[in-house]
Amino acid sequence: MAVERTLVLVKPDGVQRGLAGEVISRLERRGLKLVGLKLMQVDEALARRHYAEHVNRPFFPGLVQFITAGPVVAMAWEGGNAIELVRQTMGATDPAKSAPGTIRGDLGVNIGRNLVHGSDKPESAQRELNLFFKPAELLDYQRSTDPWITES
Ligand code: RTP
Ligand code: MG
Repeated sequence: MAVERTLVLVKPDGVQRGLAGEVISRLERRGLKLVGLKLMQVDEALARRHYAEHVNRPFFPGLVQFITAGPVVAMAWEGGNAIELVRQTMGATDPAKSAPGTIRGDLGVNIGRNLVHGSDKPESAQRELNLFFKPAELLDYQRSTDPWITES
């Protein structure tokens, strides 16, 4: 099983609704390891690069407007098959079709307000992590279940 890293965003609707902690908690309980975290405002240039694959879609202007409308929580998560695990935990893009038990299936409102983003394949994860994080902002550490991990 390949150890992967993937970009997760709690989108502006998730931050505004106070659901950032819920998203983090679900990914933690899934067994993934948090290796990068920041609260930030996405500007238009970053939004356009992040969603470049959708540039010709009719929903693109609204997508850029929405992702820049308020702060997001950007995170890097690591684990075996992390990309697929995150996508499964998020649920289908349209909350009307995402399964109960998933983030979007339990908490999502509609396709344009679906709370979270997760990279969809290894090349996307690499590209998106580079857009949102400098290499030094991503930690490389072993997290133990031992609460005395900081004791030397
Ligand atoms: P994301 O990139 O946000 O993780 O979502 P995704 O892979 O499940 O979906 P994707 O196809 O990459 O679409 C990106 C975001 O665009 C919005 N969208 N709106 N109105 C529409 O038909 C439509 N289709 C997509 C969604 O907010 C989606 O998350
Ligand atoms: Mg996508």
